[in-house]
Amino acid sequence: MASAAAAAAAALLLFFHLQLLLLLPAPSGAQPGFFSLDCGGAHDHADAIGIQWTSDASFVTGGQTAQLLVQNGLQSQQFTTVRYFPADNRKYCYTMNVRNRTRYLVRATFLYGNFDNSNVYPKFDISLGASPWSTIVINDATTPVVEEAIILAAAPTLSVCLSNASTGQPFISTLELRQFNGSLYYTTDEARFFLALSARINFGAESNDSVRYPDDPFDRIWESDSVRRANYLVDVAPGTERISTTKPIFVSVNEEPPEKVMQTAVVGQDGSLNYRLDLEGFPANAWGVSYFAEIEDLAPNETRKFKLEVPGMPALSKPTVDVEENAQGKYRLYEPGYTNLSLPFVFSFGFKKTNDSSKGPILNALEIYKYVQITMGSQDAIIMASMVSRYSQASWAQEGGDPCLPASWSWVQCSSEYAPRVFSITLSGKNITGSIPVELTKLSGLVELRLDGNSFSGQIPDFSECRNLQYIHLENNQLTGELPPSLGDLPNLKELYVQNNKLSGQVPKSLFKRSIILNFSGNSALHIVNNAISHTITIICVVIGAIMLLGAAIGCYFFTCRRKKKPYEDTVVIAAPAKKLGSYFSEVATESAHRFSLSEIEDATDKFERRIGSGGFGIVYYGKLTDGREIAVKLLTNDSYQGIREFLNEVTLLSRIHHRHLVTFLGYSQQDGKNILVYEFMHNGTLKEHLRGAADEKITSWLKRLEIAEDAAKGIEYLHTGCSPTIIHRDLKSSNILLDKNMRAKVADFGLSKPAVDGSHVSSIVRGTVGYLDPEYYISQQLTEKSDIYSFGVILLELISGHEPISNDNFGLNCRNIVAWARSHIESGNIHAIIDPSLDRGYDLQSVWKIAEVAIMCVKPKGAQRPPISEVLKEIQDAIAIERGPQEMQRSATIQQQLLVSNSNRSMGDSSSVNNHQDLEQNGASFDELLMRPGLR
Ligand SMILES: *[C@@H]1O[C@H](CO)[C@@H](O)[C@H](O)[C@H]1NC(C)=O
Ligand SMILES: *[C@@H]1O[C@H](CO)[C@@H](O)[C@H](O)[C@H]1NC(C)=O
Ligand SMILES: *[C@@H]1O[C@H](CO)[C@@H](O)[C@H](O)[C@H]1NC(C)=O
Ligand SMILES: *[C@@H]1O[C@H](CO)[C@@H](O)[C@H](O)[C@H]1NC(C)=O
Ligand SMILES: *[C@@H]1O[C@H](CO)[C@@H](O)[C@H](O)[C@H]1NC(C)=O
Ligand SMILES: *[C@@H]1O[C@H](CO)[C@@H](O)[C@H](O)[C@H]1NC(C)=O
Repeated sequence: MASAAAAAAAALLLFFHLQLLLLLPAPSGAQPGFFSLDCGGAHDHADAIGIQWTSDASFVTGGQTAQLLVQNGLQSQQFTTVRYFPADNRKYCYTMNVRNRTRYLVRATFLYGNFDNSNVYPKFDISLGASPWSTIVINDATTPVVEEAIILAAAPTLSVCLSNASTGQPFISTLELRQFNGSLYYTTDEARFFLALSARINFGAESNDSVRYPDDPFDRIWESDSVRRANYLVDVAPGTERISTTKPIFVSVNEEPPEKVMQTAVVGQDGSLNYRLDLEGFPANAWGVSYFAEIEDLAPNETRKFKLEVPGMPALSKPTVDVEENAQGKYRLYEPGYTNLSLPFVFSFGFKKTNDSSKGPILNALEIYKYVQITMGSQDAIIMASMVSRYSQASWAQEGGDPCLPASWSWVQCSSEYAPRVFSITLSGKNITGSIPVELTKLSGLVELRLDGNSFSGQIPDFSECRNLQYIHLENNQLTGELPPSLGDLPNLKELYVQNNKLSGQVPKSLFKRSIILNFSGNSALHIVNNAISHTITIICVVIGAIMLLGAAIGCYFFTCRRKKKPYEDTVVIAAPAKKLGSYFSEVATESAHRFSLSEIEDATDKFERRIGSGGFGIVYYGKLTDGREIAVKLLTNDSYQGIREFLNEVTLLSRIHHRHLVTFLGYSQQDGKNILVYEFMHNGTLKEHLRGAADEKITSWLKRLEIAEDAAKGIEYLHTGCSPTIIHRDLKSSNILLDKNMRAKVADFGLSKPAVDGSHVSSIVRGTVGYLDPEYYISQQLTEKSDIYSFGVILLELISGHEPISNDNFGLNCRNIVAWARSHIESGNIHAIIDPSLDRGYDLQSVWKIAEVAIMCVKPKGAQRPPISEVLKEIQDAIAIERGPQEMQRSATIQQQLLVSNSNRSMGDSSSVNNHQDLEQNGASFDELLMRPGLR
């Protein structure tokens, strides 16, 4: 009775089950577990082997599509288009749905085909989620670059992102997912590593075509061993013969190689098979498996036994393979391998028959994957994903991937720790409605929150978990309710802008306590607590002046460049709801730099009386402020800027750059069509004057010249590494290195170029000065820090020789520029020929050599060959140490030695290959088990 009921219940369940199955959308004609995106393709289509391709348009945000201009004629439709992205500091992500805890093959292909009609072969990075996957380097317009990885999905979506272009624009042709359902590719460390394909070879293949779907139900691409790429499969031993069979091969587990792959093989008739693989990205740890099946009909008295041979790894030769016996029969598969083996870049391997074997070795197929570390993403990834999921229509919410890695979303900034935190969110003017997403209050690393200029409504949530919040901008929204008193308890709060909302009630007293800049004007129902009013009114007058002075501090993103805090900590600034003050205040605040009035400037400069120089952007005048400070006033030529906005953007940028070896930016003025920048005045003019000016001005001390080089290099180092995004100077030259009263150097004229990234690595206008201009940049128009290095190399040559960079007279026949001239002398070892005769004798030739050598490195034709500024700086400091004499030398030598010692310690401790070898020796006993592993399943 009971069992009948149970059976009925089971039948019912089964029925429901079937119903559910029927309700699932049928993948019309598509292969289950396959997902194939045709990037840039407008229509879904099926290709010649029956794979269904889907247009990628709804899986990525941004980018443009393009047709290929050249092709090799054999490509299918999915290879006629690409999607490409700007070469900026952002990442561009495809987000695809997957099943959590399921293993996938991910394949991305890149066929350049001159889609941008520039014939510049792109180079950029791809990542799987937050983890760097590979650098795509295009070497050829008509051969696709293919990257494959096997990864265990750890979330319901998987993203593949393109970023960090160093040449050309990032692009992609196809993106495919193939779902596995066995465990051939299981590894013990799947949560920490994924596998990136290095080689998957079908030996003895009968044609050059690879084997894939439908022969391989998982659509792995088994490359024919007869297609020899330049870096692939060389050193084939004599006597290597290809054999094949048409008999069926028993392939037991569904992820084993397809029958068609196993039906062909190579055999070593002379007793051995030898190959060499160049494994890109190695040395590294690898997953490697070889696939064997006996496909010859051996006589009963014949045997085929062999061993793996890898030079330098004798332990690998211990186990003996006897295919027929291991696979328990002919035409059956045996798949020994190593799941974690340290391999070199050039991997030579072979199979050698044992003495008691009558036949030489056989090899049907081989797969090698590299272990790639899975980067832990941002600590705030889940919170941020939940937040953006509320805005499925907004493009800013569709950037995909991790919010911070490998590059952060365009409106997010992250800390640089291993698992980064979101510390800044800027969603100003994005037309967002609804209440402020509560997820934001969970970002405990948040320092800056800018949500101004939207249509947020409802109450301001409780931010008390965000203990680090310093800047809160909620102005110009529709927020209602009271200002939460907990805002006043945020220990680091510096700015709270809530003007022009519909807030009501009283401004909590707690907000009056400390150095908080508060603006709450334009909220008609929001009042100041009674007893604070009189206090406020007296403050206001004082404060107007203070606001002026504070210009630079207000609204300045302290994190953009490393800088010291200004001593304004104790000032209380309150903007009362007086209209005039409110609007004035926000104007100053957004511009975030001190603003001079034109009359102030005219007074200081005596109506632009004393001209002290001119630069790429305008004429520089001397001035003196009423407080006695001397200033340099740069009156920009009118065509320098497209508009007010652009000028103010640059001013904002300038106001964030502070360094001892950069000329200090004091403020700006913009009035009556004049754009003016105000800098500190540098008493001793330019380095150029002191190299080639009047005899009594010349710097004749080599040490002094080195110190100037050191100062300038420090300034440049700060631009290159202390600011984010990096600032490239673009116009370094000896007339842009200025000397102060004490003859210390500062770099001038920086920042008047956009930051290095900013949507346009590839700028349309080459800026720079003849003689200093990086030839690579000039040709490619692709700006990198290395262009500054080139210019700095020229300056170093000027410091050695005193010559100007371009001259008809100085450099002898056939040579008009300093670089070619100096290089030929330095390379022939004749340094005396280039040393400035006006230098005081007594310099140490070794220190001049040091600078000459580093200068030559700096002016290498290819940017990639030039050292980073930090290395240049170190060489200069070494040269200074040599010049200062033996004590310094001693010290520097000791430091060097310590460095060497600690380096060698490290390499001893860290070398994974050493460890692995040791492991292998020690574990010799368990080796056979490993090699003979009957396939994990
Ligand atoms: C995916 O699976 C992992 C491991 O079981 C689990 O920790 C994680 O919460 C899952 N993610 C989702 C979104 O289900
Ligand atoms: C970007 O690419 C350059 C050059 O290929 C590389 O040196 C750098 O490490 C990459 N940056 C990131 C963040 O991966
Ligand atoms: C996945 O596994 C099932 C059975 O476990 C099998 O029937 C199916 O063919 C497999 N899928 C593929 C693509 O091989
Ligand atoms: C196969 O490729 C090799 C080189 O990659 C080439 O020399 C050979 O002609 C090709 N064979 C066929 C049949 O296309
Ligand atoms: C196996 O036997 C055949 C004759 O049946 C003989 O010709 C051959 O040499 C033998 N091979 C070996 C390895 O003994
Ligand atoms: C702002 O959003 C509303 C709908 O929420 C929409 O109708 C309007 O066009 C948007 N405005 C802009 C400038 O995007």
